[in-house]
Amino acid sequence: MPEFIHKPVMAAEVLAALKPRPGGRYADGTVGGAGHAAGILAASSPTGWLSGCDRDGAAVEAAKTRLAEKFAGRFEIRRGNFAEMACWIPAPGCDGVLLDLGVSSPQLDSPGRGFSFQQDGPLDMRMDDRQPLTAAQWVNGASADDLAKIFWEYGGERESRRLAKAIVHDRARRKFETTRQLAELIERISPRAGKRAHPATKIFQALRIAVNDEIGSLKQGLEAALKILKPGGRLAVITFHSLEDRVVKEFGRGRARAYTFSGEVDVPELRQPRTPELKWVTRKAIAPGEIELKDNPRSRSAQLRVFEKI
Ligand SMILES: C[S@@+](CC[C@H](N)C(=O)[O-])C[C@H]1O[C@@H](n2cnc3c(N)ncnc32)[C@H](O)[C@@H]1O
Repeated sequence: MPEFIHKPVMAAEVLAALKPRPGGRYADGTVGGAGHAAGILAASSPTGWLSGCDRDGAAVEAAKTRLAEKFAGRFEIRRGNFAEMACWIPAPGCDGVLLDLGVSSPQLDSPGRGFSFQQDGPLDMRMDDRQPLTAAQWVNGASADDLAKIFWEYGGERESRRLAKAIVHDRARRKFETTRQLAELIERISPRAGKRAHPATKIFQALRIAVNDEIGSLKQGLEAALKILKPGGRLAVITFHSLEDRVVKEFGRGRARAYTFSGEVDVPELRQPRTPELKWVTRKAIAPGEIELKDNPRSRSAQLRVFEKI
């Protein structure tokens, strides 16, 4: 098996947020190469327990191998979406839950996974390769309107309509099968060609989010995390772009607020006053320090938010 190398982002900050202790039970919904998971298990030695999952089969195998070396008998790792964590992790049994969103370095760096516009590979982008829908199917099958919508909503791409139309025009001639074919079309027609960020950055981000339904999974994953946490348990979420961070912030705001509905409504749940379910541990997002930024440039857009279940 090839080596799985991913530097965990804000590892010390995550441990300070989750405060792992012996006997505690923790969940890592994005176990990846198990850098954070190993930190949590070490800090909760000798009796802490970790339930972990990842959609990526290679990550799950790498995590199991790494953790078995030092922490045998103290973890369970499954392949699956964190949206479904509450189906197999006993609720409310957890002292801490971590979601470290986005993609891992091995996913980005393996051309065969199709996440990168810098290397040629199949236009794939699936975190879970058992899922049928690939980026190529999106690009070759979606309407110009649907493509423009995801480029704008998930990528914030200002040229969303023009790029979507160009893709639809080009694909009548030949199907898009590789990352280079798509990146070259964008390079050719993007007005941002020649600027610092590669012109395909936003389009690739948008396609990745759509292919993996990342926003839908995140919303469900936050609900699942709240369900499996014990009162007093902590939720730490690391995001890598503003769209994800907005979802996490809105979830925190909604759940930290008491709620009453004073008007006449037919929906019984709305007539019930709601008490806050969690509180913010830090109001402001935590960012990586200078040393980490130098050592791991991929951490530059990371933001950590921490909540505590009431
Ligand atoms: C940034 S990496 C996590 C790295 C990990 N914390 C470590 O220390 O190595 C993100 C991982 O989350 C996984 N992932 C993303 N969304 C997921 C989801 N909805 N459910 C499960 N895993 C997911 C990806 O496959 C990837 O392996």
